Amino acid sequence: MCGIVGYIGNRDAKEIILDSLQRLEYRGYDSAGIAMIDEKNAMIVRKEVGRIDNLRNEVFKYHRDVNSKLAIGHTRWATHGKVTAPNAHPHCDSRKRFAVVHNGIIENYQVLRKILIDKGHTFSSETDSEVLVHLIEEFYKEEERNLQSAVVEALKLVEGTYGIAVICVEEPYKIVGARNGSPLVLGIGENEMFIASDVNAIMPYTKNVVYLEDKEVVVIKSEQFKTYTLDYQRIEKEVTVVDWDVAAISKGDFETFMLKEIFEQPEALGNALRGRVQPRDGVVKFGGLTMTPEHARSIDKIIITACGTSWHASLVGKYLIERFAEIPVEVDYASEFRYRNPILNDRNMVVVISQSGETADTLEALREAKRKGAKVIGITNVIGSTIAKESDGGIYLHAGPEIGVASTKAFSNQLMTLAMLAIYIGRLKNLPLYEGERLLDELMTIPYKIQQVLNQAETIQKIALKYVKNKNFLYLGRGFNFPIALEGALKLKEISYIHAEGYPAAEMKHGPIALIDENMPVVFIAPKDSLYEKIMSNIEEVKARSGRVIVVTDNHDSVMESKADDLIFVPGTIEEFSPMINIIPLQLIAYYIAYEKGLDVDKPRNLAKSVTVE
Ligand code: F6R
Repeated sequence: MCGIVGYIGNRDAKEIILDSLQRLEYRGYDSAGIAMIDEKNAMIVRKEVGRIDNLRNEVFKYHRDVNSKLAIGHTRWATHGKVTAPNAHPHCDSRKRFAVVHNGIIENYQVLRKILIDKGHTFSSETDSEVLVHLIEEFYKEEERNLQSAVVEALKLVEGTYGIAVICVEEPYKIVGARNGSPLVLGIGENEMFIASDVNAIMPYTKNVVYLEDKEVVVIKSEQFKTYTLDYQRIEKEVTVVDWDVAAISKGDFETFMLKEIFEQPEALGNALRGRVQPRDGVVKFGGLTMTPEHARSIDKIIITACGTSWHASLVGKYLIERFAEIPVEVDYASEFRYRNPILNDRNMVVVISQSGETADTLEALREAKRKGAKVIGITNVIGSTIAKESDGGIYLHAGPEIGVASTKAFSNQLMTLAMLAIYIGRLKNLPLYEGERLLDELMTIPYKIQQVLNQAETIQKIALKYVKNKNFLYLGRGFNFPIALEGALKLKEISYIHAEGYPAAEMKHGPIALIDENMPVVFIAPKDSLYEKIMSNIEEVKARSGRVIVVTDNHDSVMESKADDLIFVPGTIEEFSPMINIIPLQLIAYYIAYEKGLDVDKPRNLAKSVTVE
């Protein structure tokens, strides 16, 4: 959570920082701030509660004429301390010689704060981050003027996670950055340099980037950068060229990123399939994963671990892998996995799934699994993310940048990737050629079928708008579509703030049925699969209690039509792949309800895109 950015070069630094912060806003958006060093070497700091637009207005109101070539900025998702301007970053020492932006958590900040107060430092915020700037001040030696060493000595006392950028009026020609557990990337321009929490922030300016690793420090000047370990050893870093398109991080003709990303799904899924499926041989190939038939046969259990929407995808993955690869699968919340005693052996395979590749709980679960000797496969969207780097083998989602905080296209690509992974392992084991062919032929039709659902967006919108005033929703599905009920409910609650629960349809009668009356809309995901008749009975049970029934189905059935208050028809596919199609109307329902309520769907309250705290 939180986004940081820094710039040094010949352009107007405040413009670049404000512009870059806008693209980082999805990481946190309760408050924001900027620190710049002006031509007289004075530190100018502005911090505001609210969105970046608010900060921009204030910066241009009070500091329009500041001519700065060096600045850092921050967008905050509060952890320690309320949402107030003093708690926003950058944090400065009392003489305003240093300014620090920080993403992460300083776990031992209370001890450090006490020591610093005893030494005479005055704190102006309730945050954990502020100790950093006071430590740097403490270690800075006037005679040496070495910001890097002050930062490093400060970091040696710190326990926790950080991605930081630091500037100092005594050395107004450099930024010092460092990371441990929070992502940090350097952007290399022509006589200008950038530092940011992720590449989205700086993509319009440069595509040449350097990913910093944990416990690395960088000293950036406009024409060069040098990277070091915390022991001052120089390290050479590789420059990577990012191939994401700048258009992918703008809204284009759409009003919101979320709607754009929902509509991008056919293309995103096509990108996930491209170059990987070989239907004539019934096989899948992954660049970052090579498994022999012996290895595939030796796996006796797969554990998939993830959080939130990625956890829902993992549940579908369990059904897929058990069906096609015939290996037992356990799915665990990453936050639970690492705090129990997962019993792992070298015949197990651990799969971690994360859109951002930075989720703290998922990353720690990966590390715990590796500590216990398991081989870990990481499924991530963000190239070069920490999870991608630390996994033994990896598969990229190729969904393109996902900016809307509520995950949509990354979820679909997770389902597609898991389907391919299940077939990949299956074909190394017992899945016959004709089955591989049949499945891959069908898999390749999914993007087109999703397009057909999107073509009905207006009809789905009309249905959604009937339910804007409802206070509660139930989502019910069975088998492969039970996780889709969970995901549909999550989408609705996170962006529309309407309470919603997802259940396996048959569980309804064990409790939730007590909630059903005429005010309870129930969304059924009811494809014509092996459980269709059973879900029909569940629909009857809801109707018998005056519940409002919305059905997503691929089956034109007069009985169903007579029971449902609203029907959304989607194209048919095999039951194993139906989740990919059925989630689309549920994303649209959530979207249209939230939009009608006038809510900020791209940045729902209290949420952040990348949850880098536990
Ligand atoms: C919901 C959502 C979150 C994320 C979760 C994990 O729409 O986006 O539930 O799925 O925070 O994030 P990643 O996949 O980045 O690890």
